[in-house]
Amino acid sequence: MRRFLIAGNWKMNCGPYDAAELLEGLTERKAEISEDVDVLVCPPFVSIGMAVKYLYDTDIQVGAQNLHFEENGAFTGEISGSMLTESGCNYVIIGHSERRQYFGETDETVNKRVHKAIEHKLAPIVCVGESLEQRQKEEHFELVKNQVKKALEGVSEAEVRDVVIAYEPIWAIGTGETATPEQAQVMHEYIRTVLSDLYSEEVADQINILYGGSMKPANAKELLSQPDVDGGLIGGASLDADSFSEIITIAEELA
Ligand code: 13P
Repeated sequence: MRRFLIAGNWKMNCGPYDAAELLEGLTERKAEISEDVDVLVCPPFVSIGMAVKYLYDTDIQVGAQNLHFEENGAFTGEISGSMLTESGCNYVIIGHSERRQYFGETDETVNKRVHKAIEHKLAPIVCVGESLEQRQKEEHFELVKNQVKKALEGVSEAEVRDVVIAYEPIWAIGTGETATPEQAQVMHEYIRTVLSDLYSEEVADQINILYGGSMKPANAKELLSQPDVDGGLIGGASLDADSFSEIITIAEELA
């Protein structure tokens, strides 16, 4: 009953011109997308308008990489949930490890942003994941459990059905080193039991859990074949129309 979600996180890449070129390449290669797979691109804020314009008559959806937790006001440089909805987004990435690491994002601000996203009908993609050091100390399960629990504090059973969790081990992001399919499956299954304890098994079974960290055409099939891996949050490989469309095709074949 879960559908694959293949999501591209462009990070700080592609202004409007490059975005147009990348999306042209992508829509040429994937003029049609199977009904069983959802596809999403998350460009930087300034390219969202271009992406929405390019993709309006396609099955590819547009999301953002962050939102602020206040409604509006004197918050120089920030973007609100209503601005994203108005711009044509229906997803937003929240709590990416790069934001936690470089921009002071905490479990508390992640939780506030999740509530704001839900209020504005943006499906939050909540990122969790451990560093190499935390894995070596075998703290990764506890850490990820706490990240999930804190991110979802106060989120009701009805609201959580639209939440997406992305497991992104920090040691696998942009490093070329991927979690093995087994490592991914074990953590995804664990996250689903955490969700089941927080809500119910029925709800946990509906929530999409994506894997992120050096996913590419060469490893996508093995990762997406795992029973609890419901898609990918893809950085580097989403910046290349060939690679991203290949991963979409792999998901279509497995769906
Ligand atoms: P890479 O695919 O470049 O490793 O990035 C993963 C990621 O951080 C997606 O959010």
